[in-house]
Amino acid sequence: PGGGPAVAGEGGHGHGPGAAAALDLTTLVADPARAADVRVELVARAARIALPGGEQVDAFTLNGSTPGPEIRARQGQLVEVVLRNESVAAGTTLHWHGVDVPAAMDGVAGVTQDAVPPGGSFTYRFVAEDAGSYWYHAHQVSHAQVLGGLFGALVVDPAEPTAHDVDVVALLHTYPGTSRTIDGVSGDIAREAEPGAVVRVRVVNTDNAPTVVWVTGAGFRLLAIDGTDVHEPTDVEGRKVAVTAGGRVDLEVRVPSGGARVQAPGVSLALGAAAPAAAAAPAEVLDPLSYGSPAPLRFDPAAADRAFAYDIGRFPGFLNGVPGIWWTINGRMGGDVPAYHVAEGDVVTMRITNGSGEVHPMHLHGHHVVVLARDGVPASGSPWWVDSLDVGHGETYEIAFVADNPGIWMDHCHTLPHAVEGLMTHVMYE
Ligand code: C2O
Ligand code: CU
Repeated sequence: PGGGPAVAGEGGHGHGPGAAAALDLTTLVADPARAADVRVELVARAARIALPGGEQVDAFTLNGSTPGPEIRARQGQLVEVVLRNESVAAGTTLHWHGVDVPAAMDGVAGVTQDAVPPGGSFTYRFVAEDAGSYWYHAHQVSHAQVLGGLFGALVVDPAEPTAHDVDVVALLHTYPGTSRTIDGVSGDIAREAEPGAVVRVRVVNTDNAPTVVWVTGAGFRLLAIDGTDVHEPTDVEGRKVAVTAGGRVDLEVRVPSGGARVQAPGVSLALGAAAPAAAAAPAEVLDPLSYGSPAPLRFDPAAADRAFAYDIGRFPGFLNGVPGIWWTINGRMGGDVPAYHVAEGDVVTMRITNGSGEVHPMHLHGHHVVVLARDGVPASGSPWWVDSLDVGHGETYEIAFVADNPGIWMDHCHTLPHAVEGLMTHVMYE
């Protein structure tokens, strides 16, 4: 770590988790003796930039660009990323969204580390244990820094290569005051793909609201949700797929002779030289609750060690002296929300309800969560693993996870302004 003034972190406001923490987070790191397989240096700056469409925006860049560089690793490799903060005044961090990193590497300012001040640096090291599509983003004043562009894609290729001819990421993002972009470009982009090619498209929703994707000109399959492969994907043709805020979906498209176009509202990715024009989205949304085919879980959620309620509400009033409409968790606000305590090895279930009037994409750090049921209807298809789950107003989700990653983990809404407005708590290991 370098010089510069200390800056306050965002994750531990109010009473925060710190006071009760018995864990020594500094020990929760990747093997310090192991050499890195993938090594990346990212330099963060505040900058006024011109987007490819010509719009000027006050943004944040990593190595001079936003999105930051795509990081690719192979499953089992040790990834080492040196973050240098050159000029992000509020300090910054990097969080590895969806990756179950050791707790000290989770990048939450105020919880797992101090924000890196201008002139400072921090080295992240973790083993990429699970193949899949992930992303990284700032977790300091994140509603402003992510919006302004401090993010990028992280792809972990499986140890055994798959049969895809083309494998591309499509990062969806809306910068302040602009229309939506795809890989930093407003409107449409293209990737080369020969007719007959099998293409894997990794769609990442970095925005604050849910979105949908669909494919024009070809059928497609949904391969993975939030980085975890669906058990036996089936055709999605004629439907669209929801992507929660912070979430990812991997699609497989076999490019026909006329090309194909992967679309989200306002943007598209053309595959092949002759890709068809954009077309309206299908009306029907794929429901992952019954998609794919069943497969056993590696734990029994019916034998839970802890069962929690996460009841989301809305409260007009004062938080830290500021008037507004605030979100509540189990009737409490901000720093008055107690953490959920677990012990290593616990099977944990959680019932998330939402009477707040808005949808909230709920995100738990450091763990893969499986959806058991929605509104009392049990999941009947592939195990539906998520790290970001849209919970609509009036909905009830039953979820489960195994407490297999000791630490203090944020559990918050990924509509990032909502996290500041109180929809943020922690899962804390005893
Ligand atoms: Cu992607 Cu706590 O966030
Ligand atoms: Cu929310």
